[in-house]
Amino acid sequence: MCGIVGYIGNKEAAPILIKGLHQLEYRGYDSAGIALLGSGCNEIKVFKAKGKVANLEEKVDAALSSESQQTSLTTGIGHTRWATHGEPSETNAHPHVSMSGDIALVHNGIIENYKLLKEQLESNGYEFKSHTDTEVLVQLIDYYYQRNGKQLVKAVNQALNKVIGAYAIVVMEKSNSNHLVAARKASPLVIGLSNDNTEFFVGSDATPLVEYTRKVIYLEDEQIADIYIGKDIEITNLDETSADITIKDVDLDISALSKGGYPHFMLKEIFEQPHCIENTMRGRIIMREDGLYEIKLSALTNFKAKLLRARHIIIVACGTSWHAGLIGKQLIEDMCRIRVEVEYASEFRYRNPVIEKDDVVIAISQSGETADTLAAIQLAKQQGALVFGIVNGVGSSIARESDTGIYIHVGPEIGVASTKAFTGQVTVLTMLSLALANAIGTISEEEFQTTCHELTQIPQKMEKVLEQNDTVENLSSMFTYARNFLYLGRGYNYPVALEGALKLKEISYIHAEGYPAAEMKHGPIALVDEEMPIVFLATHHQLYHKIISNMQEVQSRNGRIFAVVTEGDEDVKKISEQVVEVPNTLNCLVPLLSVIPMQMLAYHVAVKKGLNVDMPRNLAKSVTVE
Ligand code: M6R
Repeated sequence: MCGIVGYIGNKEAAPILIKGLHQLEYRGYDSAGIALLGSGCNEIKVFKAKGKVANLEEKVDAALSSESQQTSLTTGIGHTRWATHGEPSETNAHPHVSMSGDIALVHNGIIENYKLLKEQLESNGYEFKSHTDTEVLVQLIDYYYQRNGKQLVKAVNQALNKVIGAYAIVVMEKSNSNHLVAARKASPLVIGLSNDNTEFFVGSDATPLVEYTRKVIYLEDEQIADIYIGKDIEITNLDETSADITIKDVDLDISALSKGGYPHFMLKEIFEQPHCIENTMRGRIIMREDGLYEIKLSALTNFKAKLLRARHIIIVACGTSWHAGLIGKQLIEDMCRIRVEVEYASEFRYRNPVIEKDDVVIAISQSGETADTLAAIQLAKQQGALVFGIVNGVGSSIARESDTGIYIHVGPEIGVASTKAFTGQVTVLTMLSLALANAIGTISEEEFQTTCHELTQIPQKMEKVLEQNDTVENLSSMFTYARNFLYLGRGYNYPVALEGALKLKEISYIHAEGYPAAEMKHGPIALVDEEMPIVFLATHHQLYHKIISNMQEVQSRNGRIFAVVTEGDEDVKKISEQVVEVPNTLNCLVPLLSVIPMQMLAYHVAVKKGLNVDMPRNLAKSVTVE
């Protein structure tokens, strides 16, 4: 939640900050702001706007072009907000400036003890303008700054030692335009460096940095970075000991950060899926010289003994990643005969889960920054479980906190509604199940070979599903009126039904529920009338005929049926208003195909309703607050 950027160097900071905020806008878009400083400036210049970064950009452009600019403003910090404390408004937008005007700060996270700190500051004469927890933090830093001879790093350290909660912050001081201080705890922060220390960049993730540098430092929890033009960065821990610095090369494809000719990131990401899952499988499913498949997962090699010993696996995740986890449960139980539970990370972390020494906890997360999932694996580690991460965000907190894991390698996912990450996660879970089952001996060689082969065929089968985008677009107009949708599926298609309903809810604001099809009779059927669209996932599998019976039950109550069927199916067509075909594949691989019409349907309904698909209201891409 919230995107933050920072810059110091020899260029004008404003365009760099604004561009960075555009790239981080998927993290929050309630309001945006920047603070600027240059040598000789006698005040920190702050610009804020409610809503999107474009509103801020207009304001900044107008102000800076009308001012006869004597000094160049080469230092700055910026923020795009997803509101937690305080409504979205200009007053509550970041950066916040201390009452003295000496310090400005941007913050991502939550200060849990802000009320107490605010009372203490008020009793020391501090006055507040906003309703945010962040303003408390900037005033607290100011409080120590004024008392310790204006040493910024020290003041940040003193303040953060008083704070309970999560933060990634960048701080600037009026008296020194060559200086920024950055710190983090439980919220991500990356610092980019030029080769000669003449420029430094800060970002919530590496996306706004990669255009300028590939050399980055991922700040660790409770670390404070002292960033000075012309000097090496110094990093200290909250206990004031100095921290080791590791500079990494970030590998990020810049073209992935643009829409590449598509009207929305979401549509681009839907269409990227065949290519993405080829990347997920690259170097992992290998055809040997004898024509047989082999799966090579370094994560499995390194922890083989522990993974093979596991009799109980717990999958923790949120949202779409949790749906991928439900498919993972079926894959692992089917192929490996190991008991699997799938938990919402947010619940798991606060109950008293039974975790045994030989248990494996699999964390699934696109961003690798979801606060609840991160906390869940920290708990699992404390209790002695092996933590296995299935993550997209390279170098992210969950990736770093996991004992081992597999990156899904689908590239940056910008659309708030997750699409290609889901199919990447399911692909990894399939490879993991196959490799484990093969090692344990719970799968025959023939089944292993057939499943590997079929998995390698999925990208081209996905292309065939994508060819029906126009069909889905046309039929979507019939559904924009709907206020409610039901999504029904069984077995491997049940999590796809949940995912379809989530996609529709988040971007089209239509209420939708996913159910196992047979559960319909136990309640949801009461909702069915001639206005109710019902999406059936009715591909061929052993329960296909039972699904047809469910469809007939809906048909006799005049419900409007949209079905996803296996290519060539004629029976379902007779009882559906609309169908989309997916190529035949193994039952366990069907979700990789059947989810695509779900994504396309949600997308087109939202577009037809004129909604902002990539930035749906109230949502943010990565949920770094609990
Ligand atoms: O980054 P993560 O996979 O950990 O995110 C989990 C959920 O926040 C995420 O899947 C969310 O539900 C998406 N908006 C779904 O499209």
